[in-house]
Amino acid sequence: MPCLVTVGGFFGDEGKGKIIAYLAKKDNPVIAVRGGVGPNAGHTFAFEGKEYKVRMLPSAALNPSTRLLIGAGVLVNPQVLLKEIEMFKADDRTYVDSQCGIIEQSHIDRDKNEDHLKGKIGTTGTGTGPANADRALRTLKLARDAPELSLFIEDVSNSVNFALENKERVLVEGTQGTYLSLYHGGYPFVTSKDVTASGICSDIGIGPKKVDDVLAVFKAYVTRVGGGPLTNELSEEEAKRRGWMEFGSVTGRQRRAAPFDFELAKKSIRVNSATQIAVTKLDVMFPSCAGIRQYEKIPTDAKKFIEEIEGELGVKVTLIGTGPDLDDIVDRR
Ligand code: IMP
Ligand code: MG
Repeated sequence: MPCLVTVGGFFGDEGKGKIIAYLAKKDNPVIAVRGGVGPNAGHTFAFEGKEYKVRMLPSAALNPSTRLLIGAGVLVNPQVLLKEIEMFKADDRTYVDSQCGIIEQSHIDRDKNEDHLKGKIGTTGTGTGPANADRALRTLKLARDAPELSLFIEDVSNSVNFALENKERVLVEGTQGTYLSLYHGGYPFVTSKDVTASGICSDIGIGPKKVDDVLAVFKAYVTRVGGGPLTNELSEEEAKRRGWMEFGSVTGRQRRAAPFDFELAKKSIRVNSATQIAVTKLDVMFPSCAGIRQYEKIPTDAKKFIEEIEGELGVKVTLIGTGPDLDDIVDRR
């Protein structure tokens, strides 16, 4: 994988954080670079018995030898970022593109108070939509003008392209999910940018021919937070009964849940030109899978589900999540 792009296949919260953290540890990329909207994302992973959540840094942060980059298209909340840099002691390996947009308190206030955003769309209230609106108006402050980030500024596009020219491993982290894309999701119940694989590459400043693999991450069931349609949505009781009740890592809101949606997944594969699939939380759907790390040991009913996904989508399921720990994974690459 000289250049692997990870992307959410559904509505975000597919478990990308854990998959990326695993890849960071296993494949030891020289660079992990984040695309996507900004601190509206929440990536969770457990490592050596401790749970971590990141909203700004790449989820590869746990690997101390990986350089952590944030692409120009990503909005930065300096307070959130500086806290995460401290948490991972990553001040000597974090770099922010000089052209990243800066979220200020006024953006957060607008996001939390405007009825359309908070009430109808159900945004995360992290200021990303208003900041991207200001960016389109060309009034948004950029990272190059934020003194608190001065130690971390560089040309991220240049660094990533240079690494790729030198055949170094680069892990590109997408956030949110395909159906939250401003262009390809169910407008208006979407986020404020395109978050498909092409959009993520554009955020970072790498061209389409630089990408070797696109890994689409799907959860074994679908969840969604905020407004907008969700086909075959389960009642709260049914979601609870199946153990599919989850809460948002940024907002704490209860996630709505539905069974795996093959139609959505098929389109997602096309839109992202996915070459690999990761299926997460197989153990939540099939508790007998918990902690299994070898494909042969996966029980028949769960195997059938994986085979159905491969058959319907025509792409190999290379990674299967079987538990919260980083190594609770079946790696079929
Ligand atoms: P915004 O991105 O905060 O403007 O929110 C727009 C919509 O996208 C809302 O439905 C949010 O719940 C959803 N959303 C944004 N980021 C994420 C994410 O990282 N995971 C899940 N949902 C998200
Ligand atoms: Mg999340």
